[in-house]
Amino acid sequence: MPHALITGANRGLGLEHCRQLLERGWTISAAVRDPSAASELKALDPGEGRLNLYAYDASDVSAAVKLAEQVTGPIDLLFANAGMMSRETRNFGAAGSEHFISEMRVNALAPLVLVEAFADQVAQSEMKVIALQSSRMGSISDNDSGGGYGYRASKAALNAIGKSLSLDLQDRGIVTLVLHPGWVRTDMGGPGGLLTVEESVSGQLDLIARAYDNPAMNGRFFHVSGEDLSW
Ligand SMILES: NC(=O)c1ccc[n+]([C@@H]2O[C@H](COP(=O)([O-])OP(=O)(O)OC[C@H]3O[C@@H](n4cnc5c(N)ncnc54)[C@H](OP(=O)(O)O)[C@@H]3O)[C@@H](O)[C@H]2O)c1
Repeated sequence: MPHALITGANRGLGLEHCRQLLERGWTISAAVRDPSAASELKALDPGEGRLNLYAYDASDVSAAVKLAEQVTGPIDLLFANAGMMSRETRNFGAAGSEHFISEMRVNALAPLVLVEAFADQVAQSEMKVIALQSSRMGSISDNDSGGGYGYRASKAALNAIGKSLSLDLQDRGIVTLVLHPGWVRTDMGGPGGLLTVEESVSGQLDLIARAYDNPAMNGRFFHVSGEDLSW
């Protein structure tokens, strides 16, 4: 059975990825800040050891290495999904604060450290896919409304990291995808989002399935619709 490691798996998009992949028969390693509080995730457990929870705080730069001591074996899909959006870094005049550093740590540095810790296990798997949950807000060319300093900068940094990973890991057969899930009705996306989590995740899983053994998709920035986004 394929095996996925997903961060930020206790709610929102990460939780739905776990639900849909478990339904498809995958084994899931779910990385969450507080496993004891992840009741919705635990309720998905089909038994047979197919859902395992691990403590993981993306703001701690050593967290991925600690996780790699516990999650063993090949990883078909490594999904760096955990992310944050700080209100404090949104508006010009008050955006330059310590919160900016927190967003950079969680949204950009943590996915890089995660991939460094798990690239060997991805390379040993059948599918060899790395997915980075970015955002269209990280596109510099698409920015026509300003603001969002910390979130935009951290997702733009993640995009740059994804592109480098795609080049550095391609010789090992790994396909790295930079993904925008659409505007989704989650705690982060709010009630005005255009997509349900079910719609967004099924679209993202279609893209991920297409990436298997498909180097032409490596290093591209995809909208959940499958359309290429500009950097
Ligand atoms: N929703 C959208 O419209 C949208 C659009 C573009 C991109 N995205 C991206 O999609 C990803 C998932 O977002 P979502 O909409 O599902 O948001 P969400 O419902 O707010 O969930 C965010 C997830 O990230 C986790 N997380 C936050 N900080 C963390 C940390 N320091 N360590 C570990 N986990 C942490 C949260 O865990 P806790 O429960 O412990 O806080 C939660 O599981 C994010 O990367 C986000 O930037 C979302």
